[in-house]
Formats: sequence, C-alpha cells, structure tokens
Amino acid sequence: MKLILDLMAKPCQTTAMKEPRDNTHFVKIEQAARILRAGHVVAMPTETVYGLAGDAACDEAVLEIFETKARPRFNPLIVHCADVDMVKNLATFPDLAQKLAKQFWPGPLTMVLPKRADAPISDLVTAGLNTIAIRMPKHELARELIKTAGFPVAAPSANPSGKLSPTTAQHVLEGFGGQVPVVDGGAAKEGVESTIVAVGDDQLVLLRPGTISRAQLTAATKVPVLDPQDKTIKAPGMLLSHYAPNAAVRLNAVKCEEGEAALNFGGSKLTSAMATLDLSPAGDLAEAARNLFSFLRKLDQPGVGTIAVAPIPEDGLGEAINDRLRRAAADRG
Ligand code: TXA
Ligand code: MG
Repeated sequence: MKLILDLMAKPCQTTAMKEPRDNTHFVKIEQAARILRAGHVVAMPTETVYGLAGDAACDEAVLEIFETKARPRFNPLIVHCADVDMVKNLATFPDLAQKLAKQFWPGPLTMVLPKRADAPISDLVTAGLNTIAIRMPKHELARELIKTAGFPVAAPSANPSGKLSPTTAQHVLEGFGGQVPVVDGGAAKEGVESTIVAVGDDQLVLLRPGTISRAQLTAATKVPVLDPQDKTIKAPGMLLSHYAPNAAVRLNAVKCEEGEAALNFGGSKLTSAMATLDLSPAGDLAEAARNLFSFLRKLDQPGVGTIAVAPIPEDGLGEAINDRLRRAAADRG
C-alpha cells in the first residue's frame, strides 16, 4: 500500500528529497522561496490575514500544511497566484471571472472555478472536488514570494485549525510555538479573510463574506449574488465553530456580567472590570475588521471566561465581521 502511495505522490517542483525544516523565525523572500521549493511551509503576509504557504503541486508540502494546522483533510485550500497566466493553468476562466478579476484582483476575493483536468495541483489541495479556489493577493510580499518561488502556493490562514486567524507575524509565531518560519509583512490591512464566491455562468454564490461586500460584487458584475443552497457541501471549510478564542464569546451584549471582558463598537457602553476595548470608536467597519482578531486575542486573557461583544451593524463589511463573530460564539461541540 505504501509503495502505491509513493508512486502516486507527485514530486515537488525542484527537489524530490525534502531538506530538513528550517526553524529560523523570520525569513526574507529569497529564503522563504527556497523553503517552499524544498517542499516545506512558510507563513506569508497577505492583505487579509497571514497564510501558511506551501507548493500547491507538491503532496508533501500540502500534507505539511494540514499537519501543521491540524486541519481536517476534507477542508480544501485556497491557491494563491501572482498573475492571470498562473490562474489559467489551473482553472477555466469564464467571462464572469474575468470581470471580477479586472475589478478586484489583486485583492481579497477568492473565486471557486472549475478545475482544469491537467492542473498541476496536488489532489489534497482540492480535497477531491472538481473545483478549485483561487485568489491573487494584493500584499506585495505575497506576490513577490509567489513570483520568486515560481509556482502557485496553497495557503490557509496561518493558525491552528479552529483558532483565531493571525493578522501579525507575532500571532503566527505564537500560534505555532515558533516552529514555522515567517515573512514579516506588518499588520494585515484588511484583517478578515477574503470574500469567497463560486463563479457560475450568470450568477455568483457567496460562500464566505469578506471585505468585498455583496453590493460591490453586484455592482461590478450585474449578476445576482446568491446564498449557498447547502452550506455543508458548497463550503466544506465553513465549519460552524471556527475563529474561536479560548474564552467563550457572547454576542449582542448590552451589559457585561461578572468575569466577562468587553468588546465595544462605535462607542457602545459595555464596561468590564477585567478588560474593555472598542473595535472602532468612530463606528468605522473597515477599522473594526482590521482590529477584530487582534482585539479578540487581547481580551482572551487568563481569568476571562467570556468576551461580551456589543451589537455590530450587519450591512456591508458588517456581514463578514458578524460571520466571524457568530463562528467564534458557536457551540464548540
Ligand atoms: O484571505 C484568505 O482567504 C486567507 C489568506 C491566507 O489568503 N486564506 C484563508 O484560507 O482564509 P482558509 O483555508 O482559512 O479558508 C479557505 C476556505 C475554506 O472555508 C474552504 O472550505 C474554502 O475556502 N474552499 C477551498 N476550496 C474550495 C472549493 N473548491 N469549494 C468551496 N470552498 C472551498
Ligand atoms: Mg482559516
């Protein structure tokens, strides 16, 4: 059995033999590209959150991503490309996708497209689906890294599965106990993960809300943006409990209870004896998105049983913020 698996495994881009893992904490682009070429993982900055990148064609690298995160294998990964030629190598690229790319790439939009039969991609990336999720990040260092490596990289958020996503290099080091080398690109500008849409012939299905809102998608394409009929199948990664701090999370709070930390929005009046923060005193949703994961981390202190969160409007970017908060608050089974 093992022999069959070995024969089936696709070799990595440049080296079939893996070099020992490099445990240097912070790495520059050249070194990060070498790590990727050797079939290992490296954390890279993107404008949304930090990603745990590996060669998307290399089974061993993709396995290392799943193992490092302790991520369930049925949850497919997003492939990050530096240009449209790279994308066309992997997926069919209909008119609607071109329209979206023109408007939103590079940027925080992931498109789920029909995967090409000859796509040089490890089957582990797509978890057996005949579609592939692709995005072109805007962060200069992410683009430079992909170009220098010379191949598309699979990259989920660089956090242990189910935990809060990392918006700084320090978050990545903390999450993986310093075991994963990181390209430091500063604090993420957007702060929540990309909007994911499944691209049909004349419609879009919103699989995950993000900083590119429904209204922007409709304005750019003039096609309807639908909700998934069956969330479990369309976005297998959208597990209900996700993005969770250690403390419990209570939403739409109007008053803090004993032992709760407070997370306000727009000058709301929750107060806590333990810790109180406001995602955006001015009520700016973009600022709130940027602060969301790092503020949840700051409030997630020993002794804090629950983080109470004030109501946040559901419009525009609020949909993405509330989506992450609902998952943070969900029953963890
Ligand atoms: O902003 C982002 O998208 C970040 C940065 C690093 O790029 N990445 C990220 O990846 O959030 P991850 O793995 O945490 O989330 C990827 C989501 C999962 O919910 C997964 O189920 C979904 O994308 N996905 C991947 N391939 C898919 C496919 N073919 N069909 C439907 N959903 C897919
Ligand atoms: Mg994630």
